[in-house]
Amino acid sequence: MERARAAGFPYSCDPAVGRPAATLAAGVPEGGRVLEIGTGVGVGPAWLVSGLLPRTDAAMTTIEHDPDRAGPAARGSRPDFGPPRGDALELLPKLGTYDPVFAYS
Ligand SMILES: C[S@@+](CC[C@H](N)C(=O)[O-])C[C@H]1O[C@@H](n2cnc3c(N)ncnc32)[C@H](O)[C@@H]1O
Repeated sequence: MERARAAGFPYSCDPAVGRPAATLAAGVPEGGRVLEIGTGVGVGPAWLVSGLLPRTDAAMTTIEHDPDRAGPAARGSRPDFGPPRGDALELLPKLGTYDPVFAYS
């Protein structure tokens, strides 16, 4: 949230949305795949990952088409990590199936 403030990005989900999103993510079955469309600068993904941890069986993917947002979202993570960058509508057919899907516009 500090990163979003510093970037002047006002569209991150607030805790009233992030907490239930984290709870829904936590409930995915073993081997579950969680998708977020619209990474922003990473607040939403942080909530989803906080719901999944400490599990290692589930995966979370987040897609952002604006490089000025996807870059800050990936900062501080492993060099090989980063949200797929591009239009979710183009990437979705190549990514397989997910449940649940969190879509923001
Ligand atoms: C409301 S913000 C989401 C913020 C983030 N989920 C969070 O809670 O911190 C919506 C984001 O969706 C992205 N977006 C909108 N349409 C998209 C699309 N078709 N593909 C990828 N990203 C998209 C926008 O660039 C914007 O960063």
